Amino acid sequence: MAKRSDAAGLARQILDMNAFSASARPAGSHTLLDRRLANVGAAAVLFYSEPLEIVSASGSWVTAADGKRYLDFYNNVPSVGHCHPRVVAAISEQIGSLNINSRYLSGVVDQYLEALKATFPASLSNVVLSCSGSEANDLALRIAAAFTGGTGVIVTENAYHGNTSIVADISPSGWKKAHQLPHVVTIPAPADAGTYQSLEDSFAADVRAAIAELDRRGHKLSAFICDSIFSSDGVYADPPGFLRRAVEEVHAAGGLYIADEVQPGFARTGDAFWGFARHKVTPDIVTMGKPMGNGFPMAGLVTRPDLLERYCRDTGYFSTFGANPVAAAAGTAVLNVIEEEQLQANARIRGEQLMQRLSGLASKGGEVVGVRSAGLFIGIEMSDADFASRVINGLKDREVLIGAAGRFGNVLKMRPPLSLSADEADMFVDRLTDVLAA
Ligand SMILES: Cc1ncc(COP(=O)(O)O)c(C=O)c1O
Repeated sequence: MAKRSDAAGLARQILDMNAFSASARPAGSHTLLDRRLANVGAAAVLFYSEPLEIVSASGSWVTAADGKRYLDFYNNVPSVGHCHPRVVAAISEQIGSLNINSRYLSGVVDQYLEALKATFPASLSNVVLSCSGSEANDLALRIAAAFTGGTGVIVTENAYHGNTSIVADISPSGWKKAHQLPHVVTIPAPADAGTYQSLEDSFAADVRAAIAELDRRGHKLSAFICDSIFSSDGVYADPPGFLRRAVEEVHAAGGLYIADEVQPGFARTGDAFWGFARHKVTPDIVTMGKPMGNGFPMAGLVTRPDLLERYCRDTGYFSTFGANPVAAAAGTAVLNVIEEEQLQANARIRGEQLMQRLSGLASKGGEVVGVRSAGLFIGIEMSDADFASRVINGLKDREVLIGAAGRFGNVLKMRPPLSLSADEADMFVDRLTDVLAA
């Protein structure tokens, strides 16, 4: 397998990155924080050692209870801009006339399904809508198992795919302690070619080795699932095409390739509407969520009819809220806004603008290791997680929100709204430069 350096520190769990810790709670009275901790208990997950109370948002900006406005480079859910008026209007109008479970005919729903399908290769002609990316991945894994008769799953070593029981089992970045499951084999993120000619070759070799390992453990391959931008692994986008041979290996072994587009999908990568399209591969199943309704909770998958038919032969599938008309109205508005405001092109142009300045970025102590991106999905690798954390908090002090990713929590993760303006992009780099120089 391709080698990787562990020099950046100890592996981190995704929810621990940039998280509030009760043991380091700020002094003084924090009524809302106390209430949250009392209400949610051990499952409470909050950003920052001093969590923010956000009260409203618009475009690329969120406003906190104390009146401060933060430039939001973290939230990829309100992808066409916070509270986009077209999406708000579509949701309001639809909920004012009808919202009902998915077992009735609805022109609003089928209009959406058709518009969504038009963004995919023609072979992916069946859509199942759900309410979360986790549910979509759960169903994708079950479809793959039914179709292939296999149980083995290959994932990258810091992947996150969601929170249902079977999906948590294939989400190493969510594991708090060693979690050896015989049917799950992890492979390194596509960070470097190691001793191979190309990243495409080394990643394919890792997948081939994982298939052999599953075989050794008595598990036939069911699926290789990866987030097409490797977000929680630390953002690995280039060179486009490096997934191709890995997918061929999966198919040759009788497995399916599931493209998890929950993070990179819906035009964020700029040069394509879907992350997998940058790699010129056609998945067997694509899952999506987060930006799909610009904050309205909706998700889903697209797949080939033969795969879905095989699954539904043995198991019924129904979701009460999955394909409700309000979700369809929100989803339609999002697709329309992306097209009419040319947000895919904007993601590419603003991404290039950011990269021009970010690629020359340096810190006083030389802690900036590298910058990786596709469109408005950007990762900046730092020498270690402590420095990354200092930058994240320094940016918060300068009213900018970003996050962390990577196996060691040492990668700054940026995903601003696709509607980002040139001034906002410059403002971000100015403030980041200021933090790095401090
Ligand atoms: C790549 C990826 N897949 C799936 C999920 C799960 O989506 P959800 O939180 O909507 O269940 C996430 C959530 O962070 C994700 O990042």
